[in-house]
Amino acid sequence: MDSQKVGLELGDDSQIDLKIDLFGDYYLTPLSLNDTQDFCNDFNNTEITQYLRSPRTIPYTLDDAREQIEKMITTKDGTFPFCWGIRDVQRPHSLIGNIVIHISSMVGEMKYVPNPELREVFASFGFYLNPKYQSKGIMTACLKAVIQKIGVERYGIKHYYGECFAGNIGSRKTFEKCGFKYIRTIKDGVVKYNPRQVKDSEVFELVLTGENSLLVL
Ligand SMILES: CC(C)(COP(=O)(O)OP(=O)(O)OC[C@H]1O[C@@H](n2cnc3c(N)ncnc32)[C@H](O)[C@@H]1OP(=O)(O)O)[C@@H](O)C(=O)NCCC(=O)NCCS
Repeated sequence: MDSQKVGLELGDDSQIDLKIDLFGDYYLTPLSLNDTQDFCNDFNNTEITQYLRSPRTIPYTLDDAREQIEKMITTKDGTFPFCWGIRDVQRPHSLIGNIVIHISSMVGEMKYVPNPELREVFASFGFYLNPKYQSKGIMTACLKAVIQKIGVERYGIKHYYGECFAGNIGSRKTFEKCGFKYIRTIKDGVVKYNPRQVKDSEVFELVLTGENSLLVL
């Protein structure tokens, strides 16, 4: 899919106004370099990183965080942002978590191809939430909103995949609450960078059809 045709015409400044409301005090705006300190803190928090492949380096420094955010927020001209900061209206300048949508046609090389037979564009995700905010339904709301507002409305995508370390119950429940179905466990399917560990991974799939597309709202 050609991003120039489906994307919005966005300049750097226009991204500042983008906002996706979730529920209550929670909303999404694009991740930015202003999030560097919070992002760095989160990637030094093992309560979060035990479930993530990142960070690549320990210690993970502010420079590492700045460099990672710069890479994450750099998109082709005209594409809708893919990396979103999760926010609480009570602390509007802070990051309480992050959600990223990876669109297969725009990622140079997917680390994992969930369905080699699939010829259509698909999307997959990365996310985490600060432990203080977990188990309130926030990530379920984020994932539904990103699928609907970005996957469906901006890019017309029907196929979605989720992947997590086997045994990550919070992630598994989040995918299932958004309508994803478990499809397989991949033995030694993923490498965690630090400390280096080879782990089994679980894969989930959501296929939106005419009948179920509104269920994600
Ligand atoms: C996984 C994660 C994103 C879930 O976010 P969340 O906002 O807490 O999830 P939600 O509240 O929307 O719902 C998920 C369900 O999982 C449950 N859950 C969340 N964290 C859990 C945990 N650590 N252990 C068991 N269950 C958990 C929630 O209670 C909820 O269940 P319920 O509907 O029966 O109440 C969050 O726990 C997290 O950031 N974990 C650390 C990083 C991580 O695992 N990232 C994902 C990598 S694939």
